[in-house]
Amino acid sequence: AIVDVDPAAYDAGEHESFMHKEILEQPAAAERVLRGRLDDRFATGHLGGLNLDARELRAIRRVKVLGCGSAYYVGQMGAELLEDLARVPADAEAASEFRYRNPIIEPDTLYVAVSQSGETIDTLLAVQEIRRKGGYVIGLVNVVGSAIAREVDGGIYLHAGPEVAVASTKALTNMFLGFAMLALQLGRVRDLSIADGRRLIAGLEALPRKIEEILATEEQLEAVAERLAEAESLFFVGRVRGFPVAREGAQKFKEISYRHAEAYQTSELKHGPLALINPDVPTVAIVPDDELVERNVAALHEIAARGGPLVVVTHEEVSLEGLPDEGVERIVVPRSERELDPILLTVPLQLLAYHAAKRLGHDIDKPRNLAKSVTVE
Ligand code: AGP
Repeated sequence: AIVDVDPAAYDAGEHESFMHKEILEQPAAAERVLRGRLDDRFATGHLGGLNLDARELRAIRRVKVLGCGSAYYVGQMGAELLEDLARVPADAEAASEFRYRNPIIEPDTLYVAVSQSGETIDTLLAVQEIRRKGGYVIGLVNVVGSAIAREVDGGIYLHAGPEVAVASTKALTNMFLGFAMLALQLGRVRDLSIADGRRLIAGLEALPRKIEEILATEEQLEAVAERLAEAESLFFVGRVRGFPVAREGAQKFKEISYRHAEAYQTSELKHGPLALINPDVPTVAIVPDDELVERNVAALHEIAARGGPLVVVTHEEVSLEGLPDEGVERIVVPRSERELDPILLTVPLQLLAYHAAKRLGHDIDKPRNLAKSVTVE
């Protein structure tokens, strides 16, 4: 059976769709997930619900993140954060695949199940399989008292509030913030310094206002989205921490606009998909001002040389000099701590998908063939 939320139970207010309302709710939702969970004194996270003391946290040798769809992509962002800040090997896997390859469950691995609804059957079955084999699982779950929330050993509630639109937005942002706090806490029982802990806490506290700044650029994003909506097919590209952002951007775009949107690592373009670039195939490129910026910008030149239109989601400081004026749009997001960049790079992609779908006249909250929560295999 498929669980569908009854939108009548909620109120979209003056918004024309729940998705739009939920996108705009993100600054407030982000504040809620952070509240009371940042410890300034010891520059760490304060996540009591993990049910793990410092010694147990210190004993974790690996982190495995499991989720489906967008929860899986944000899980990839989370795994990257965990490796970066806590220096613990971490990776994310689609929960829908995990159980079918007879996975090795290790006692010193922390398993993290990510789910907005807490009812996704693939994620729930993965949790049950891990626990049956003696693994320790925490949940990053939005719906209180949901099946996954009841099944796990501990967790972090996301406090995003009810999410009605099929396309997940505010819950995903809070998942990312949940990972950031987990990485901070895990990092601070290991090698992350007080100075770095403080830097991240300040970065996290500043995020809700920065999300607001992005939301204020909606008009520009709407204009770009209307052009993208004309394309039958488009690429979303990014590298390392920008790659799951590209995957999430493509996911949102195809879900509600029904356009073919494919995510690729920017570095992999020349190994195949560059053959598809032409003036009818736009590329949305994630180019933060980080250690990969020069390589990313070089790839933009490769795309432009083949006439491919570009939408570059980037920071103010990144120079796009030498790229043609025509066919290159620049979307600027505010700077943050580099580890937190992925979430700010994701927010404009939500609005691009939203406005493209609106332009095409689709039912934004209930896209065809999809349900809010998939509760059968
Ligand atoms: C997100 O926009 C999608 N509708 C979908 O991929 C979703 O994230 C996935 O089905 C997982 O749902 P969950 O978070 O409720 O487990």
